[in-house]
Amino acid sequence: MIDDLAKQHERLGREVTAIISEYASRLDSTPVASEATPHDLEKLFDEHFPEQGIPSEAILEQFKKDVMAHAMNVPSPRYYGQFNPTPLPIGVWADALASTLNQNAGAWRNGPTSALIEARVIRWLCELVGYDDTSFGTLASGGTEANLIALKCARDHAHAAATERGLRSAPGDLTVYASEQAHFSIERSLDILGLGRTSLRKIETDDGFHIRPDALRKQIESDRDAGCVPCCVVGIAGTTSTGVVDPLPELAEIARENNCWYHVDAAYGGTMAFSEKHGHKLLGIALADSITFDPHKWMFVPFACGAVLVREGGRVLRDAFDITPEYLDEDRGGADVEFDFFRYGQLGTRRFNSLKLWMAMKFMGRKGYASVVERQIELTEYLASRIDQLTDFKTVGMVETAVCCFKFLPEVMTNIAGIEQDRLQQRLQQEIEQSGEAWITTTVLKGRRALRANINSFLTERRHIDDLVELLERKSAELE
Ligand SMILES: Cc1ncc(COP(=O)(O)O)c(C=O)c1O
Repeated sequence: MIDDLAKQHERLGREVTAIISEYASRLDSTPVASEATPHDLEKLFDEHFPEQGIPSEAILEQFKKDVMAHAMNVPSPRYYGQFNPTPLPIGVWADALASTLNQNAGAWRNGPTSALIEARVIRWLCELVGYDDTSFGTLASGGTEANLIALKCARDHAHAAATERGLRSAPGDLTVYASEQAHFSIERSLDILGLGRTSLRKIETDDGFHIRPDALRKQIESDRDAGCVPCCVVGIAGTTSTGVVDPLPELAEIARENNCWYHVDAAYGGTMAFSEKHGHKLLGIALADSITFDPHKWMFVPFACGAVLVREGGRVLRDAFDITPEYLDEDRGGADVEFDFFRYGQLGTRRFNSLKLWMAMKFMGRKGYASVVERQIELTEYLASRIDQLTDFKTVGMVETAVCCFKFLPEVMTNIAGIEQDRLQQRLQQEIEQSGEAWITTTVLKGRRALRANINSFLTERRHIDDLVELLERKSAELE
């Protein structure tokens, strides 16, 4: 049996390696998005659960024919979609190694090395954002879960009894503040935590889509007058739609004055901390009580790998989440509780995700990350300047990270209803998608639709940006 296991790994490993390297070799020329509709795909996978097992070769053949052929080519240098990166090969293979060992990174005893490696990468991320030795954190499945963990800490900070008794004894309605550009996970977390979605106050932004501190102060004041209890201020370092960074030091000051927890959602923008050139944009981040930082966005770690960091250390997370089931209550001397990561968040069984992050960080080094981040921001600035030179296009907001938003507005459209202008952006996005030559998205800014491109592949070069601009010109001319 064991021999057979080793042989199966050897055979599958060879076959899968061939699939992966063949896929990588044609990434630049493969259409970015498949034309298949959900209905087409439904037909492809309309199959019965087999009575007898099927040989792995046949399963891999179907993977190539049906799965890979219609996948969104996220790792493509021409994919400019959400914050979804080309994964580093070392991260891809680390995932296979993690599955091979199948450590349960929940309790220390079930994954001794995974626990210590997780503590190590958390330390590296804490140092990167400027936290001191007291700080700690935990990996999470992504920014959505990291934000939930952080907001649980914020809720308990405002009302410590909530963990045991819920919000029945809360001193008033707890309110949370973030800009109107905040990721949806903030609002959803407040529902899950029993505060309700309306406890989120969505604060206006300036023309560059940064939160307006004056509007925030005013909202807090009026909530206090109404008997609410301001509980948490959220700053964003790299907004989902435009990639900009809120004025973090000013938000820290407002949070402090109001005895609020201060959370910074740096799920995307946190990676700028590697760069001496751009790190200053995160000034003030270390004043946060908690930080969301997603290695599976701008650190090119394959999904899923998020993180939440907490300035005052693991005790804060354990106060919010720890519980000891009887089957994990062995006396192992106490100290190892510190490395039981199931005590730091809501998951029980946890994947050995620290392995791919640890390997990626060692492989890239600070300088490796700094140079990719700097190159991608430069390419985004180049894209913005090329778009501004086109007659019928204009950029919206500013480039602070590797996100550029823009609109296609030919002169004949400038005086027509906003909704028609919105449709035009969507038509152009769809034309580009159908061409397969690139993939961009749309978003809504100040109530109106805009196009959005994020450079998140370390394979993207200047020639790809030139191709994108040429494609925008060609497809927009066809629409006109
Ligand atoms: C600013 C920000 N926070 C949180 C998230 C959620 O991250 P995830 O999709 O990894 O859960 C995103 C996702 O794009 C984001 O842009």
